[in-house]
Amino acid sequence: MVSLLPMFSQRTNWKLTPNRHAQALEELRAAGTPILDLTASNPTHCGFHYDTAAILDAFRKPEALTYDPQPQGLLPAREEVSRYYLHDHRTVVDPESIVLTTSTSEAYSYVFRLLCNPHDEILVPKPGYPLFDFLADLQDVTLIPYTLEYAHGWFIDFHSVIRALTPRTRAILLVHPNNPTGSYLQAEEVRRLNKLCFERNLALIVDEVFLDYSFVAAPRATFAGNHESLTFTLSGLSKIAALPQMKVAWVVTTGPEALARSAMDRLEVIADTYLSLNAPTQWAFPALFEQRHLLQPQIVERLRENRAHLRALVSQHASCELLDADGGWYAVLRLPAGLSDEDFAITLLQTHHVLVHPGHFYDFSGEDYLVISLLTPPDVFREGISRLIQL
Ligand SMILES: Cc1ncc(COP(=O)(O)O)c(C=O)c1O
Repeated sequence: MVSLLPMFSQRTNWKLTPNRHAQALEELRAAGTPILDLTASNPTHCGFHYDTAAILDAFRKPEALTYDPQPQGLLPAREEVSRYYLHDHRTVVDPESIVLTTSTSEAYSYVFRLLCNPHDEILVPKPGYPLFDFLADLQDVTLIPYTLEYAHGWFIDFHSVIRALTPRTRAILLVHPNNPTGSYLQAEEVRRLNKLCFERNLALIVDEVFLDYSFVAAPRATFAGNHESLTFTLSGLSKIAALPQMKVAWVVTTGPEALARSAMDRLEVIADTYLSLNAPTQWAFPALFEQRHLLQPQIVERLRENRAHLRALVSQHASCELLDADGGWYAVLRLPAGLSDEDFAITLLQTHHVLVHPGHFYDFSGEDYLVISLLTPPDVFREGISRLIQL
């Protein structure tokens, strides 16, 4: 007889049935209906030109035939990450402060494990990236939201940060620029956050995967040079070089010297326990990372072109609003008052075969936001937006 006693951990008690929006999508796909996907965020499917010969050649490295386990990752790869911060962001980063991981998600799990006992708390931005909930569940960490307020740009509501603090708070998570709002942290916000971290003994965890996708030409400041608070800066090949399939990311640890050193010693043990990166990709890393010089201009051009088109169309429809953003891969639309994001997205999908994300996926405070990927190929984007505007 099959036991009815619970077999699985509570942390995996997720609601696994598809929501109404996912269900509508499944039905259309099962019927073979062509869909205009305005949520495309996999750069390898978006029609960009990669130097395929250089990428494949990067793996022809005899060194990769030897196993040399290094918890932080192989030095030449870490030195390449340091060069990126120096050349692209004018920031000195010691290769010894870098730990390579297979993804930013893995980097998050290392940092959560380093900082948190079970049910300790990390403050996260709202609206924000939905994967955080799952990452936190898996590490037994509790996420407490703080609010980003919109006033022709997004700003941290510091009252909400203070209200969210408890004796269990271990860190404040920042996404720079945030997904999906496209907002970078301002210098004054950074100053206030550092002060708060110092006073409350907190760390900063900063996700910079979209750092290089700014709508203005000047490079944006990175937190990888922040020594005021214990700071973990996360990024990777996935967005910076548009190579998510290569699975290389990193975490840079900075801060007051003794604290940062002690964090690194512990992170090294966590990384040593998994040794998750493979040698061929680490040896290929410098050539793979080089691809950013080819990919970033194409992507920035795509983001600008799609955003300009969206702005032009939306401006003719006074009822919809395109929210201001400074960078990132997404656009946020505000629907006319009274419409629900979920109903709108489902109707758009079922009647016009256009896929967008309802804002509640990202925990917007109202129910009238839609999120659209600016990475979408322009022909699909234009047709999809013109159908959306008609609805
Ligand atoms: C804010 C943010 N961080 C991290 C990631 C995932 O990065 P990786 O592929 O390195 O795990 C994403 C993916 O969309 C993201 O939006």
